[in-house]
Amino acid sequence: MEKTNDITLLKEPILPNINTMKKPIFVTQPTLPNLDEFHTSLKEIWASKWITNNGTFHQQFELELAKHLGVNYVSIFNNGTIALLTALQALEIKGEVITTPYSFVATANSLLWNNLTPVFCDVDPIYGNLDAAKIETLITPNTTAIMPVHVYGTPCDVNAIEQVAKKYQLKVIYDAAHAFGVEVNNNSVLNYGDLSVLSFHATKAFNTVEGGAIICHDAATKEKIDQLKNFGITGETTVVAPGINGKVNELTAAYGLLQLKTIDSDIEKCKTITASYKEKLSNIKGLQCMPNIKNTKLNYSYFPIFIDENKFGMSRDELYNKLKENNIFGRRYFYPLITDFPTYKNLATVSLPNAKEIAKQVICLPLYAALTQDEINYIISIIKV
Ligand SMILES: Cc1ncc(COP(=O)(O)O)c(C=O)c1O
Repeated sequence: MEKTNDITLLKEPILPNINTMKKPIFVTQPTLPNLDEFHTSLKEIWASKWITNNGTFHQQFELELAKHLGVNYVSIFNNGTIALLTALQALEIKGEVITTPYSFVATANSLLWNNLTPVFCDVDPIYGNLDAAKIETLITPNTTAIMPVHVYGTPCDVNAIEQVAKKYQLKVIYDAAHAFGVEVNNNSVLNYGDLSVLSFHATKAFNTVEGGAIICHDAATKEKIDQLKNFGITGETTVVAPGINGKVNELTAAYGLLQLKTIDSDIEKCKTITASYKEKLSNIKGLQCMPNIKNTKLNYSYFPIFIDENKFGMSRDELYNKLKENNIFGRRYFYPLITDFPTYKNLATVSLPNAKEIAKQVICLPLYAALTQDEINYIISIIKV
């Protein structure tokens, strides 16, 4: 499954090499629910004729998700971007928001779309997450919030971010698009911050084709979010806010409920594949894998490698293209940096050396539950030759 909203796709049409023996291996491939079970759910929907607007599948999916994730309240959305926009509206964020340049562009777009000013902070050089130690220097009287991203599902330094947010009374909205099921010290990472936003896009660990969710901690906030995703309507005759249409239809909710049956075994499979990659890619000069992180349960949905061209003997782009020529379609998540796009160039106010360096070095290798050992061996053989 190709990631259709990846900006690099626009520049680089992917043409599988018909001369190679292998079928294309894409960076990810979605797991789909059992078709017979989905058909049973569809029959129920067809019988009830209730196809959207907080139907029974919608209600059940929110409850099951909260249980599965170990969080208090979930409001599901039609995609992660609309959920990000709504999260900022729900907390009535104004002024400047400190965020990361090392993310998918939707993170920063959600700020500009709300007339907020993104203030880009550098990232830590190992995991690529917002460097909590650098946040404080960027705070001004106009700063109201921090929007960090748990990049690749690796948790940010949530305790350090909480400390700085408390000290300056800032809100924290985590872009947790990659962090489905991730835990820190046996607690969902989604329980940190004021709000967390998930994406259920087809490329994510858990997919509903398109979709997303906001995680919040109290019933009043959940009610406000639910109103905002339904045009700001309350009751039959009142609109209390300029809301949006972020609703999820019953077909998608039914699909999502079935996905909960297989997500744990998918994550286990991806964990095994990650271990296999790590073992086979250790001790290659100039090729670095992401180090393990303590007290954390990951979802293993990305496998980034970092290429130091002087030591590896080939640049990151040369390796990326060589993989492509052999029908292996990794992705350079996240290159270019958000601050390198024309829309954001003038908004980078401080230097971002760590973000620049990892954006220059990264390739995410194919990783998904159905990836076979033969395919892994083939990918490794192309990297090693
Ligand atoms: C970090 C990050 N934030 C936000 C999004 C946007 O999510 P969606 O594609 O569901 O709108 C994505 C996914 O594409 C993402 O990777």
